[in-house]
Amino acid sequence: MKNLLSIEALSEQEITDIVELGTTLRKSRTASPQVLNGQCWALIFNKSSTRTRVSFEVGIRELGGSVMFLSGADTQLGRGEPVKDTARVLGRMVHGAVIRTYAQEDVEEFAKYSKLPTINALTDEEHPCQILADLQVMHERLGGWKGKRVCFLGDGDCNVARSWMWAAARLGFELVIGAPKKFQPPAEFMEKLNTDKVKLSEDPAKAVSGVDVVYTDVWVSMGKEEESASRLQVLKPYQINEELMGHAAKDAVVMHCLPAYRGKEITDETLEKHADTIFDEAENRLHAQKAIICWMLRK
Ligand code: CP
Ligand code: NVA
Repeated sequence: MKNLLSIEALSEQEITDIVELGTTLRKSRTASPQVLNGQCWALIFNKSSTRTRVSFEVGIRELGGSVMFLSGADTQLGRGEPVKDTARVLGRMVHGAVIRTYAQEDVEEFAKYSKLPTINALTDEEHPCQILADLQVMHERLGGWKGKRVCFLGDGDCNVARSWMWAAARLGFELVIGAPKKFQPPAEFMEKLNTDKVKLSEDPAKAVSGVDVVYTDVWVSMGKEEESASRLQVLKPYQINEELMGHAAKDAVVMHCLPAYRGKEITDETLEKHADTIFDEAENRLHAQKAIICWMLRK
C-alpha cells in the first residue's frame, strides 16, 4: 500500500510510471481497471475545489468504487476533533482518502493514523496531483520533459510552484522561477531541494527567454486572501501576455492549473490562444487521478 503525499517523496521512476499510466488510461477511458470494486473512498476537503473534486469523484467511480465527499467544516474536524482521531475512525470504515487542506503535516498525520492509502489533493506546501497531470501534458504534447525548459511565473513559493520544483529536481529538466524577491522560494527550501536544475529570476522577460512551457497559477492562493491587494500589485509585471510570450521559444505552450483570473496572472487573449492545451491539462486531472490510485494499489 502506498500514499501520494508529495512530489518530493517520489522517485523519477515512480513519476514516469504514473504519467505513462495516465496516458494509457486516457486512451481507453471506457475500459478502466476495476481496482476499487467494493471500496468506498472519502474525499475530505477543507478548501474549495472544482477540478480536483470532480476528477476524483468521477475517477473513483470509473475504477469501480464509490465516494463520500466530506466538507471539513461539516465534520467534527471543523469543531476541533484531532486529525489523528478522525483518521483512526475513517481507517476502520473507508478504504482510501483524498485530502485537501492547509498543513502538509495534517495529511501526513492522517496517512499515519488511518493506515489508509492517502492522497494529498493540495496543501499549502504541495499540489502533487496537479503536477502529475501537467507532466502528462508534457509527455503527450511535447514528447516528454527531457531537454525541455519550463518557466513558472508568479507566486514562486506557492504549492504548485513547489511541486514543480520537486519535479524538476527529480526528473532533471530545467525550471526557471520568475517571481519578485518576496515571492521566491526561501533559501532553506532551495537548500533542501538541492539541485542545479531550478533557477530563480526576478526579470520576467529573462525568465521566459527561450522556454518551451510558460506556466502560471493564481496570484492569491486559498488562505492568502488577506494579502490580495499587495500581491496583485507586486506580481503585475509577471502577467503572461502576448508581449511576454514573444521572449519564449517559438512554439512554446502556455499552461495554467486553473482557476484563471483573466487580466491578472494571464490575459484573456493568451489564455484563449492556448485554451486547447490548458483544458487538456484540466482533463488530464481525471486520467492522472485514476493513474495515481492504480499505482498506489499495485502490489
Ligand atoms: N487546479 C485545481 O486544483 O483546481 P481546483 O481547485 O478546482 O480543484
Ligand atoms: N496555488 C493555488 C492552487 C489552486 C489550484 C491555491 O492554493 O489556491
